[in-house]
Amino acid sequence: MHNIQIAAAQIVQQVLVDGRNLNQVLDESLRRKSVWTPAQRAALQDLSYGTLRFYGQLRAVLSLLLHKPMLDQRIYYVLLVALYQLQYSKAAQHAVVDHAVRSAQMLNTKISGLVNAILRNFLRRRDALLEQAALHAEGKYSYPQWWIDELQAQYGDRTAAVLEAGNLHPPMTLRVNQRRGTTTDYLALLKLSDLSARLIAPDALQLDKPVPVDKLPGFFAGQVSVQDAGAQYAARLLDVRDGLRVLDACAAPGGKTAHILERAAVQMTAVDKDEKRLARVSANLQRLGLSAHLVVGDAAEPQDWWDGEVFDRILADVPCSATGVVRRHPDIKWLRRSTDMAGFAAQQMDILQALWRLLAQDGKLLYATCSVFHQENEQVVAAFLALQPDARRLPIALPDDINGQLLPNDQHDGFFYALLQKVA
Ligand SMILES: C[S@@+](CC[C@H](N)C(=O)[O-])C[C@H]1O[C@@H](n2cnc3c(N)ncnc32)[C@H](O)[C@@H]1O
Repeated sequence: MHNIQIAAAQIVQQVLVDGRNLNQVLDESLRRKSVWTPAQRAALQDLSYGTLRFYGQLRAVLSLLLHKPMLDQRIYYVLLVALYQLQYSKAAQHAVVDHAVRSAQMLNTKISGLVNAILRNFLRRRDALLEQAALHAEGKYSYPQWWIDELQAQYGDRTAAVLEAGNLHPPMTLRVNQRRGTTTDYLALLKLSDLSARLIAPDALQLDKPVPVDKLPGFFAGQVSVQDAGAQYAARLLDVRDGLRVLDACAAPGGKTAHILERAAVQMTAVDKDEKRLARVSANLQRLGLSAHLVVGDAAEPQDWWDGEVFDRILADVPCSATGVVRRHPDIKWLRRSTDMAGFAAQQMDILQALWRLLAQDGKLLYATCSVFHQENEQVVAAFLALQPDARRLPIALPDDINGQLLPNDQHDGFFYALLQKVA
């Protein structure tokens, strides 16, 4: 276990100190550990994700336990990982402490006694320490203070629920490919594989317990995909019909592109700026038996790739702060800065304005983000409508939205949708 602790501590350190993306750092680390068993690999993922998910609380507790700053940062991160294990995992407590001491011995023999003392102190005074850490909102909710303040200003009483939903383990939700069968058919197939799920939106089945995709019946034959229920609203809102010309302008990895094509035989152009990510769209469509015209291009610079024929529907699933999907990407909580929102909003505005020229008269453009902050979302829509007299916002009806804003809950991640129509 101590090797896993050390590897997790290094991953967490790289995210928090070097500002690196958690998925990427974890992938790199796993590639170097080809001899590790699937259980060890899963443990590394759990420790690095979990420590970042509860970093605010763990950091507050550790600062109460340390009487002076820990000079060896490698040990500091081992302690954070061990505290995560003691508080949130089922691992035997004495084993966690022993392994942390061994981890420390491998890294810096002089401080292993201190590691033992700190962790045993935590076990002795756990309740009081957690209570004291929770006196500050960062220690209570494990988000930066600016984020908590921003949500509070926007959502008032709903803030705690939003913060807590973002700290849950994400559910695994499936999208049944309706070209290959109904949700009822697929529920029966799941049952045959001893998997249980429930219908939570028209094509969306939420599994009771996440499983690797190779355990999903018919996955490789294209019967089903993994996609959050909130993301599955896009295809429905876009109101697609056979034969329409559709542009998905920020398409990769292609979840929404594929869903649109599953719902209607449209002429799809899928654009993404990132060539490598666009290759994932191609792979996904191939698995599902679907096809689209794929283009590497910048949605804000359509003159470089557009053939001049207007589109009936455009999906602009723009780059955003991703603040609605932190339960899947807990590193985002610590990598984002409050000042980032203005940059995302400006980028989104550029994309919307550029794409508007590509939309047919009466055509519809769906602006989508996975953000919960209105500096993107609502304020971008308002600014766009103020500049674009031929744009009208259409009402949309989602089960529990606030004017197009879905807040994360046990059924879906946080998303924002605004449907805009080009009028005379
Ligand atoms: C939120 S993701 C899209 C997710 C995708 N629609 C799906 O459902 O699977 C945003 C995508 O926009 C791409 N992107 C960022 N800036 C872009 C731009 N200026 N033009 C085109 N694509 C861009 C990114 O490479 C990324 O793949």
